[in-house]
Amino acid sequence: MSVAVALDGPAGAGKSTIAKRAAKALDFIYVDTGALYRTIGLAASRNNIEPIPSAEVDDLLSNITVDLTFNENGEQIVLLDGEDVSGLIRTPKASMMASKISAVPSVRAYLLDLQRNIAKSHNIIMDGRDIGTVVLPDAKVKIFLTASPEARAQRRFKELCQKGMDVKYEDILSDVITRDYNDSHRETAPLKPADGCVMVDTTELDFEQSVEKILSVIKENI
Ligand code: DC
Repeated sequence: MSVAVALDGPAGAGKSTIAKRAAKALDFIYVDTGALYRTIGLAASRNNIEPIPSAEVDDLLSNITVDLTFNENGEQIVLLDGEDVSGLIRTPKASMMASKISAVPSVRAYLLDLQRNIAKSHNIIMDGRDIGTVVLPDAKVKIFLTASPEARAQRRFKELCQKGMDVKYEDILSDVITRDYNDSHRETAPLKPADGCVMVDTTELDFEQSVEKILSVIKENI
């Protein structure tokens, strides 16, 4: 039986970097489900589908293929119709499209089996918003990772600056607040702590402390 760790929480809480490191330490696979929503958001942008929701989203879903694969280092690659779009989905615009498209019930349904199938065949840490509540409610360990909006915006700002992007902290903070609101107020699978989850707040923790905390929660529960 494979072991699943469901890791949910708002944008910018550090889920992906912390979980990648923790997965490596445990020899688990790290699965970033946000990349799947970002990929459908990218497909919608490419097809000029705006505003969202729109009836055209269902047509889009029947015409695209989204897949996850892992490279030799165990890193996730996301494919849109066979094209590696892992880099293209990491822009502020793609974040906003993903947030909008993730509220569409048919999009969530479309991605459900893909996520569950990965969990069947690997030991994983799966990062998302509804992993403990909807995708893997029976996950062995469920963690809700959070931090204050200001701390999360500051981290994302630094990350994008390091990538050479010309961004303003105030815009990032306003995006974080908007996405939090969208993610936690949508009707389908809103962001909320799962029953029985362990809450971890990283506002006052640095990266290494956050990894240690997550690893200790996982080890105590598996
Ligand atoms: O984790 P992320 O920032 O890459 O996620 C992009 C968007 O996708 C975010 O607005 C929330 C949404 N999402 C979701 O609704 N459910 C998930 N399991 C993962 C992400």
